[in-house]
Amino acid sequence: MIQLPIRSQDVLEGLSAKRSLELEQLFGNGDLIRALNILGISGPFKVQSPWELEDELGRHLINAGGYAALPFGESHPELITFITTFLAQNQSMSLPQQSVTAWRAALETNLVSLLAQHAPSHNDSQVFFSNSGAEAVEAALKLAKAARPKASIIINFSHAYHGKTLGALSLTPNEEYQDPFRPLLSDIQTLAYGDANAFEQTVKDIGADKIVAVIFEPIQGEAGVIIPPPEFLPAIYQVCQKYGILMIADEIQSGLGRTGHWFASIAMGLEPDIITLAKPLGGGMVATGATIARKWIVKKVLGGIYGKRHSNTFGGNSLTMAVGLKSLELLLDHKLVERSKQLGIQGLGRLKQIQETYPGYIKEVRGAGMLFAIQLRHVIKPALIPGQAELIRQLGTGMALRILHLNGLHVCYTQNSSRTFRLTPALNMPEELFLEMFHRLEQTAKTNSKAWHMLGKTSPIRLLRLAKLAFEA
Ligand SMILES: Cc1ncc(COP(=O)(O)O)c(C=O)c1O
Repeated sequence: MIQLPIRSQDVLEGLSAKRSLELEQLFGNGDLIRALNILGISGPFKVQSPWELEDELGRHLINAGGYAALPFGESHPELITFITTFLAQNQSMSLPQQSVTAWRAALETNLVSLLAQHAPSHNDSQVFFSNSGAEAVEAALKLAKAARPKASIIINFSHAYHGKTLGALSLTPNEEYQDPFRPLLSDIQTLAYGDANAFEQTVKDIGADKIVAVIFEPIQGEAGVIIPPPEFLPAIYQVCQKYGILMIADEIQSGLGRTGHWFASIAMGLEPDIITLAKPLGGGMVATGATIARKWIVKKVLGGIYGKRHSNTFGGNSLTMAVGLKSLELLLDHKLVERSKQLGIQGLGRLKQIQETYPGYIKEVRGAGMLFAIQLRHVIKPALIPGQAELIRQLGTGMALRILHLNGLHVCYTQNSSRTFRLTPALNMPEELFLEMFHRLEQTAKTNSKAWHMLGKTSPIRLLRLAKLAFEA
């Protein structure tokens, strides 16, 4: 008889940290786990409170990780209570692909209403649900292409991050992620983020009728929290309005409060045609993505008998819809969007102070709401090892993640800026923990007042193991 090596009860009773690590290395994304393990930051972590973790050695950590997808931290009691009630009482189908459901109807209504309250022209928008941010971007791409069938070019921006499925990856101009998968989608024009003149000139050169859409992050999260010059996006909006080029605002990271606004693009005065949301919509508990678009655009793909032209199995399932509904409510009822803005200002002030005190460790800091970026100094001058600049950046950040961990801080790596780490604390993190988070960062900077000091604090064996791993593939 076939047997499962591990039963769910075994995990409930507690699989040891050592065994989990071995199994992950054997059967999961082994080398990534190996790298984290060499750095001593692989966990597994226990959740102590929504905002605090404990590592396998009992070390206390403030959770500033979660990649902006944990608006309420881990397993927030209010959300858990709601989900438990939902599971106990819900009688609607879980996968209502061919039917109406109250949960999906409610979340669609609330998302459009929320959007229309910020941008009235969105009154008649419609929502398409999927299972991740990248999938929400895929849907946006398909909607835009179908809405302007005579055009073919999509404009994106340098350092953008839109996900790693093939379509979304085509819009994520990072060689490390793109190179092994070429050819990707053709007809993508990547322009400098922040340069409105380049955009206007490109539209003139190519011809507006050939351009389907421009996709942008109102604040670039994975580039290291890059806030564009204030005139940049409004200028692009003007051009798009004039020529009918569609605007796709990717608000997967910036939206729903993280940067201090419900929709960062709308706060900048834009009314994009298509908006993507994901991360916090799942309340940090479930995977969900939403693509919100004007009705005439949705009709071009899903109109009439074509209602299944774009679809997925799990998008819009009742559990994720219920969690999405509750997450919007929690954001609203606890005024977390406003809180993000206010604490964001305070936090950025602290970061600037730390940077000014320890400029040999931190090169630059940036922030928008409760999305903070810390750009490190190099641990070794890249010129010393020609051709290995990226490796040096990754090594430096790896060491910083380790030392921050030792000082009780769990932070996020940044996909398109390997010298930058981010703090993405829960929007409801208690103020004393929020302040303690900066204190722990300050302590780390103090004991490593020059970035290269971290080298001396990382054992040669650890460094050798990291170097070996880096050159193995
Ligand atoms: C702006 C933006 N778009 C898309 C994505 C991709 O989302 P996911 O990782 O859920 O596929 C991310 C993820 O970080 C993101 O920040």
